[in-house]
Amino acid sequence: MRSIAPTIVRCILALALVAATARCGKAQGPSSLDPGNEPPAADPFPPMANDHAPGASAAARAAAAGLARGVNFGNMLEAPSEGAWGLWVRDEYVDAAASAGFKSVRLPVRWSNHTAPGSPYGVDPAFMAHVDSIVGKLLDKGLYVVLNMHHYRALDGDTPDAGDVTVDPAKLDERFLTIWQQIAQRFRDRGDHLVFELYNEPHGRLTAAKWNDLAARALGVVRKTNPTRVVMIGPVSWNSADALASLRLPNDANLIVTVHNYSPFNFTHQGAEWVSPVLPLGVTCCSAAQQNELAAPLETARKWAAANDYPVYLGEFGAYQKADMTSRVRFTRLMRDAAESRGITWGYWEMAAGFGVYDPAAHTFRVGLRDALLGSQPVP
Ligand code: BGC
Repeated sequence: MRSIAPTIVRCILALALVAATARCGKAQGPSSLDPGNEPPAADPFPPMANDHAPGASAAARAAAAGLARGVNFGNMLEAPSEGAWGLWVRDEYVDAAASAGFKSVRLPVRWSNHTAPGSPYGVDPAFMAHVDSIVGKLLDKGLYVVLNMHHYRALDGDTPDAGDVTVDPAKLDERFLTIWQQIAQRFRDRGDHLVFELYNEPHGRLTAAKWNDLAARALGVVRKTNPTRVVMIGPVSWNSADALASLRLPNDANLIVTVHNYSPFNFTHQGAEWVSPVLPLGVTCCSAAQQNELAAPLETARKWAAANDYPVYLGEFGAYQKADMTSRVRFTRLMRDAAESRGITWGYWEMAAGFGVYDPAAHTFRVGLRDALLGSQPVP
């Protein structure tokens, strides 16, 4: 009965709005005249209401401001396994990020690949302890940490990566919620510099309606153990600002809304091997038209934030290494200014891989990119 509970809830909601249909009729509960019927199961992960989000609390606003200028520890823990994409989280990166002046680190994690495929979907305790120790090191540096769930491929309906755990499609959502139950329990006593982000770049199978429901259930799970922790939720279409209009926030004040911005995409993702077809090289940045293009999603986000009374955080932006460095530096500084002038704090994508602000082989920052993010010099 557990697995059909969400169907029952949806039918009950539908019944409240429209006349009962034959399809929903079975969801109305047991009848004493029909001894074959079982009583309806309690919904194990009920969604929070999302009909009247109240606007952000002072705590959510303080966390959004505290995130300030940050960096993603990308290609590390969100690879199928740590190291599979050539990078491991190292103390060196923790120290370097803090001493350079970043105020936050977003930590993408592929929890789904460290979790049993079947019920009760236990997260590998060694992996949980490892993530916990990294979060601890970052917090000990005084950094804010955005701890997310990244690349649960099947949840989006995407083809799993080689080495991904295979999951029964009927169990994807229950597993997602149970993973959050465990993360929330584990990190419940961490202080207010730790922010949870429910899911990176929902898309595909996660339509707006589906994601609004699932996010409301996930926040309900988190709130059982973390009643006031600040949580981040982003819209569908890969956290695109254009999809903010379809986002229904749960009725909760301790929220930040997150968007990603890789515009102009033909510049930032030229030559990126994971984009199909691979985009041609040689695109420079940033003409007046390109500057408008990079700022437009942020303007959409600023207007949404003002109208809805929640802060917005730009969780990812960056230009891949196949673009020329002069253009990358210029783009990075322009994006930073475009966000900050709109009151939007940010996390650069990313530390030490193909977009990296840090060169892991030379053990130094790429000074142009670092200064574009943190320096005070004008746009080059
Ligand atoms: C993905 C990365 C990708 C980046 C830029 C991120 O959200 O997780 O794998 O490199 O976007 O495309």
